Amino acid sequence: MLWYYHGNMNKNFHEAVASGIEEMKSKGTLKRLRYLHSPMDGRVQMEAHGQIVILSSNNYLGLSNHPQVIRAGQKALERFGAGTASVRFICGTFSVHRELEQKLASFAGTEAALSYVSCWNANTGAIPVLAGEGDVIISDELNHASIIDGVRLSRARRLIYRHADMAELEQLLKGSQEAGTRLIITDGVFSMEGDLAPLPQIVELAGKYDAVTLVDDSHGTGVMGHSGRGIAEHFGLLGQVDVITSTLGKALGGAAGGFVASSAQVIELLTQSSRPQIFSNALPPTIAASALKAVEVLEADPSVVQKLHDNAGYLRKELRARGFKPLDAPSAIIPILVGETSFAIRMSEKLLEEGVFVTGFGFPVVPEGTARLRVQASAALNREDMDLALEAFSKVGAEVGLP
Ligand SMILES: Cc1ncc(COP(=O)(O)O)c(C=O)c1O
Repeated sequence: MLWYYHGNMNKNFHEAVASGIEEMKSKGTLKRLRYLHSPMDGRVQMEAHGQIVILSSNNYLGLSNHPQVIRAGQKALERFGAGTASVRFICGTFSVHRELEQKLASFAGTEAALSYVSCWNANTGAIPVLAGEGDVIISDELNHASIIDGVRLSRARRLIYRHADMAELEQLLKGSQEAGTRLIITDGVFSMEGDLAPLPQIVELAGKYDAVTLVDDSHGTGVMGHSGRGIAEHFGLLGQVDVITSTLGKALGGAAGGFVASSAQVIELLTQSSRPQIFSNALPPTIAASALKAVEVLEADPSVVQKLHDNAGYLRKELRARGFKPLDAPSAIIPILVGETSFAIRMSEKLLEEGVFVTGFGFPVVPEGTARLRVQASAALNREDMDLALEAFSKVGAEVGLP
């Protein structure tokens, strides 16, 4: 591999990195970046491929390219400038942060909320504050990487339960009664499976064993519940989860940003002690304003959530009719298991040749032998987009053999 070499750089180090990359290439696991020349939407302009139907974005409600969401960001850029140039507690807190955080709290059904520059940042910044030495964190084995890293950063003892296994969760709760705080952490909607955490049982067990619940609702916010308020709304449990973390980078405009929603005292504690709040710049006001507008747009017309689910239902039904076996789940994530990683990558490339983008995920993102194409529905898709995509699935399925 050719690489730029400068006299003072460490040649051995850079060569070792290059050979690691060669190895990924030879195993077929090297990821390639796709460059877009247009906004995220049902269809995009993708470099070297032209117009492509997107079935793999997190733009669940189609708000990334919503005129009001864009305009709100533009207005904030004019009013507040390019960025905060400070962390929150020095002089990086703008009035739009307060507006956004109040809106997010009422949307999530909690007393208060705090924004972060991403949900990754929220999870890794909040978890170590909520549980430390002498405490126990009990975590679903399929939780998102940012939760795993957040748990690693905390000094709490880590216990893992098999995916959604409530009997094992109860065993772990029974066996850890000596601990201080016991924090149960789960994704709301699991990003690789599309299934939901059994929240009613988790909340009940937390009550029974005096534990605290934290739900990362990144794929549930804007998606689950009648008005898109997330998995707690879906299960009729608004206000009954101790801590919710979520992203602004998916359904709520898709720009970037994350938040924690909880009681006023938890939010105060995070404001005081969460390291990204103290040592890293605040969410840019432009993004805060776009996200705020995204929630307002959703509140003004929640029928967009129904449109998302109609689209997800249509894609699931038609994929089945074409011989595919998507995992069943009530979310907007529709994984199609295909087995080997190389097969998932080949199918994804062939679909792209037919004008449809669907990501293939393999090991190490998912366990060996369970590689999958992850279709994600969006309210931005119209029937024509979906039919074009489904035709591509039929054609590619016939070419490579159905998984
Ligand atoms: C469950 C979950 N949590 C957190 C994140 C990270 O969100 P963000 O992009 O805001 O960092 C993701 C994104 O993929 C996610 O799926």
